[in-house]
Amino acid sequence: MNQSQSNVQNNTLLVLIPGLGAVGTTFLAGVFAHIRHGRPIVGSISQNYKVSDPSGQPNPRNFTPLSEHLGLPSLSNLAFAAWDITPENAYESAKNAGVLTPQDLEMVREDLETIEPMPGVFISDYVRRLDPSYVKKGQSRSQWVDALRADIREQKAKHGTDRAVMVWCASTERFLDPEPVHQSLAAFEQGLADNDLSIAPSQMYAYAALMEGVPMANGAPNLTLEIPALQELALQQGLPIAGKDFKTGQTFMKTLLAPGLKAKLLGVQGWFSTNILGNKDGLVLDEPDNFRTKEHSKLESLHSIFEAERYPELYGDLHHTVRINYYPPRGDSKEGWDNIDIVGWMGYPMQIKINFLCKDSILAAPIVLDLALLLDWAHGQGWSGVQEWMSFYFKDPHAQEQAVHDLMQQHGTLLSTLGVE
Ligand SMILES: NC(=O)c1ccc[n+]([C@@H]2O[C@H](COP(=O)([O-])OP(=O)(O)OC[C@H]3O[C@@H](n4cnc5c(N)ncnc54)[C@H](O)[C@@H]3O)[C@@H](O)[C@H]2O)c1
Repeated sequence: MNQSQSNVQNNTLLVLIPGLGAVGTTFLAGVFAHIRHGRPIVGSISQNYKVSDPSGQPNPRNFTPLSEHLGLPSLSNLAFAAWDITPENAYESAKNAGVLTPQDLEMVREDLETIEPMPGVFISDYVRRLDPSYVKKGQSRSQWVDALRADIREQKAKHGTDRAVMVWCASTERFLDPEPVHQSLAAFEQGLADNDLSIAPSQMYAYAALMEGVPMANGAPNLTLEIPALQELALQQGLPIAGKDFKTGQTFMKTLLAPGLKAKLLGVQGWFSTNILGNKDGLVLDEPDNFRTKEHSKLESLHSIFEAERYPELYGDLHHTVRINYYPPRGDSKEGWDNIDIVGWMGYPMQIKINFLCKDSILAAPIVLDLALLLDWAHGQGWSGVQEWMSFYFKDPHAQEQAVHDLMQQHGTLLSTLGVE
């Protein structure tokens, strides 16, 4: 019996993953390694956070794991399904991604091999650097949406559950400005019927998910859920949505450190961030129009944290530059450098250097887990539309007005919304 068959029960939560690449497979491998071999889950609020004893007894050992406190599904109650544009199963794809050691992959090989992707919906103009070999038939957006909806229904039936969430782990799409077709649900549905070229593949997955009653989070920086049309649909369907762009390496450090500099009211003249990475994500981002999407998402945070309008003398001339360099020898082991030019007493300049050697997908995997479990939890609370309290997980949080970027402020909001602060 394979993993998915063994999970057939009504409280199964089906996690739908467009994009069975480095992040998606690292997430899956970690879940299976935990279930089968007790490998630790690290970096996940849902699994690692401990809630104090409600009686307030000062007993340091009296803590309940958050997952238990909130009644979240256990990891063995998760089932998975994915889409990709190449047919490799999760084991083969994880091997190609090169994030985990061969020994670790062998340990979960059987489980990973059961996860074979469904053919994706792909339009080359949105991701120019990839060559698809496994895509859905059909010529129009309405046909592709129908096919995605049929996939979701089939996966729910296969896993014997109606409870599902979708977390977008596929490649970054090219930069897309909101167009009239995105402005209302009626215009979007007309656009699907007319095969409007401004409807991106990720928006088709999102529409299909929401129509099938599935909450969705977007881990990439593309314009997907933050359009009025899909937000209207989420509210109409009573479904929570969240995005965008997993906050993992450099932006995580940025939104941790910048609030500290701001708290001390030290001036900042410049923040130069550069990275090298050599995975498929890096290859896709080597295309200028796809990098533009990422750059947009990465630049927003400092502006919001420093409030240059309020403190023009300290932050009014801030130069913020972000570069990503595709450098194949590094694979998923990204290296990021930040040079921060700060200003102190009497205008004296100083510098801070950060050199972060991270594994991108190791940082992203626990975010996928938390988003899946917490979106499902939010759905159970009857919440719908944009879940701003999940901003902690994103580089460029969706917000109704001004997004909060300060990591610790986001953390406080997350915990207080979960009722555990
Ligand atoms: N730490 C991180 O790794 C990190 C952080 C923030 C955001 N992200 C974003 O998460 C996404 C995934 O990152 P990754 O490192 O796993 O990339 P990846 O290239 O390894 O995986 C993406 C997968 O998506 C597939 N794909 C592309 N278009 C598709 C489509 N339309 N339908 C189905 N599958 C499709 C690709 O074939 C690939 O297998 C990227 O958008 C990336 O920018 C990653």
